[in-house]
Amino acid sequence: MICLTRGQDLDQELKRLFESHLERWIGDHYLSESPDSLGQACAYALRTPGKRVRPILLLETCRLFSPSIECALNAALAIELVHTYSLVHDDLPAMDDDEWRRGKATVHKLFGEATAILVGDALLTDAFSALAVGYRDQARLAIDLSGELAKASGSGGMVHGQALDMFWGGRSDHTGEALVLLHTKKTASLLATTLVMGALCAGALPQDLVRLRRIGLAVGLNFQLCDDLLDSASGTGKSPGKDRAQKKLSFLNFTDDLGIRTTIADELGLAYRELANFPNSDRLVASLKALEQRSS
Ligand code: IPE
Ligand code: IPE
Ligand code: MG
Ligand code: MG
Ligand code: MG
Repeated sequence: MICLTRGQDLDQELKRLFESHLERWIGDHYLSESPDSLGQACAYALRTPGKRVRPILLLETCRLFSPSIECALNAALAIELVHTYSLVHDDLPAMDDDEWRRGKATVHKLFGEATAILVGDALLTDAFSALAVGYRDQARLAIDLSGELAKASGSGGMVHGQALDMFWGGRSDHTGEALVLLHTKKTASLLATTLVMGALCAGALPQDLVRLRRIGLAVGLNFQLCDDLLDSASGTGKSPGKDRAQKKLSFLNFTDDLGIRTTIADELGLAYRELANFPNSDRLVASLKALEQRSS
């Protein structure tokens, strides 16, 4: 296992930079007067206090190749819009049926199920608008970022992972391979794309994108392992014990299976070694290690 040093944290400066960009987007898109509550509910979903892991990692990765990271803010925005949509839909009664998210009532609890479905639809669609408008003067980059995000989040990526999650819930004929596929699809694919999009914004070389995707997949799988292990913890801002109660296929089914834990730890170790070959990777490494120690 990786040896962790205490006291590392996600970069709060990047978080603030991202959140002011997000706030401008919210002000421009979701705060107009209207008798329905769609805009208000979109703003609520985005303003609830998430860790902003993906935007921070995207900006950190951009910084590996470029001293200026402003060029990556719209890509960071797009990925947080997609991530937030995925959480709003993940919490719906037809899926995980959760009442709490980020320490607040879930969107469907506060605004109703139909509005929560529409919030997801809106945020997903708006993510691609953020890319199209944000990179309209760099058509090739806009296409590459959109393609990346669509592939990682659509029927070949996160949404397929969510379908596998629903399929395996309550069953007992799962295998370790099924778990790794599910978690790779539902979480690691978007994490890997996060790093790739950050590098694309900085004009990184194709071989660097390949390396970063490999690193992101390892990090993403470990990220979902931590999420599963936090299922029973209090203070995550979610209802404790939901995975166990709903008989989800999660790492909790494999706590005695050293094989899976070792494979993930080995992949993560390789990822950190690979990352050390990039100049100036210290801050990105610190953020990734902070994720391993997180309590929410
Ligand atoms: C939760 O993601 C869902 C998973 C993919 C594990 P995060 O842990 O990044 O959630 P927020 O955005 O900080 O609430
Ligand atoms: C959700 O996984 C991953 C998504 C694609 C949203 P979980 O269902 O484990 O996420 P939490 O625990 O509700 O945040
Ligand atoms: Mg779920
Ligand atoms: Mg859930
Ligand atoms: Mg979970």
